[in-house]
Amino acid sequence: MPFRPRYTGLIDRYRDRLPVNDDTRLISLGEGNTPLLKLNNIPKLIGKDVDIYVKYEGLNPTGSFKDRGMTMAVTKAVEEGSKAIICASTGNTSAAAAAYAARAGITAFVIIPDGKIAQGKLAQAMMHNAVVIQIKGNFDEGMQLVKDVAEHAPVTIVNSINPYRLQGQKTAAFEIIEELGRAPDYHCLPVGNAGNITAHWIGYCEYSSASGDHVTEACAYCHGNCKYAGGAIVGNRPKMVGYQANGSAPFMRGAMVDDPETVATAIRIGHPQSWDMAWKVKEESQGWFDECSDEEILAAQKLLAEKEGIFCEPASATSVAGALRDIQSGKIPEGSTVVCTLTGHGLKDPDIAIKQSSSPVITVDATLDSVRDAIINNLAR
Ligand code: F0G
Repeated sequence: MPFRPRYTGLIDRYRDRLPVNDDTRLISLGEGNTPLLKLNNIPKLIGKDVDIYVKYEGLNPTGSFKDRGMTMAVTKAVEEGSKAIICASTGNTSAAAAAYAARAGITAFVIIPDGKIAQGKLAQAMMHNAVVIQIKGNFDEGMQLVKDVAEHAPVTIVNSINPYRLQGQKTAAFEIIEELGRAPDYHCLPVGNAGNITAHWIGYCEYSSASGDHVTEACAYCHGNCKYAGGAIVGNRPKMVGYQANGSAPFMRGAMVDDPETVATAIRIGHPQSWDMAWKVKEESQGWFDECSDEEILAAQKLLAEKEGIFCEPASATSVAGALRDIQSGKIPEGSTVVCTLTGHGLKDPDIAIKQSSSPVITVDATLDSVRDAIINNLAR
């Protein structure tokens, strides 16, 4: 049997296009290379002839897309001699920061909104031995504190304002192009801080350029870290579509939101850090922003789980909730190829999943008769 080279993470795979050199010690957990799954059942259910793919980022090592950015941010922090990293987080960034810090042998400080992060994410930060600081405030207040404290303490910020984060995250676009042989027509993402939508656009722009460096304004967001080195040339770039939860939708309001609220705690953000960049992405790609209600988000989460076998966390389902609405209305026309990013795994937030599930959990006596009856009575579900 021929050997397949061992997959060693996205920095190694895309090192020509990332700001590392041969001597850089890579801090990796084998992130990236996530499945691009074609939805089989949902398009039939809605009766539309559209190819919908989901990029299942929940299958990264800590269960979210944050690992793509964190491998880069922690690799560079270590290269630059940092002994500690810090982030504010709605949960996933803190889980990734904690894990990559553990891998690197440095300390992670994570600032989280008290009582507003999903259990799985808190468990991860604690298990990886991060210093967890809960604040009686929201993510946006935590983010401001991180910026302030980093000026007075020897810590590297690993939120997406750290430019290396977006460099790592852009590789998701590379993977999609390599699998489809082209960019999709539409790429739909949930939007919180708007780092990920920006990172994807950087990735698509780099890949679609024939001759490299800084071909668009968006590409310049890499702050000079981009080392695009040729490769496949694809002619098209997607329209980038960002969906927010309607209680936390500053891009829809056209202004910051001071008291964001949503069941999708990962995107409970009212002051996006990548505000200007995301507006440019929307304009350059001729995409749009829209919002979904909590009910629509949870319905999409359930639909994916029940009809496709794909379990994502509520925030992630925002991309599918919005895309399905826009496909049904014809705003995304039939014949299109659509990619929706599923940013985090459903196991991150078991409380919400159990609360909204309609599956019966049947308790019966431990006898053959009772179990057989339970089966017969539920065969038609
Ligand atoms: N989906 C999930 C599951 C997230 O955790 C986040 C952000 C987003 C979407 C939005 O991505 O901020 O790049 O627009 N989570 C951050 C965190 C804020 O702290 O984990 P974005």
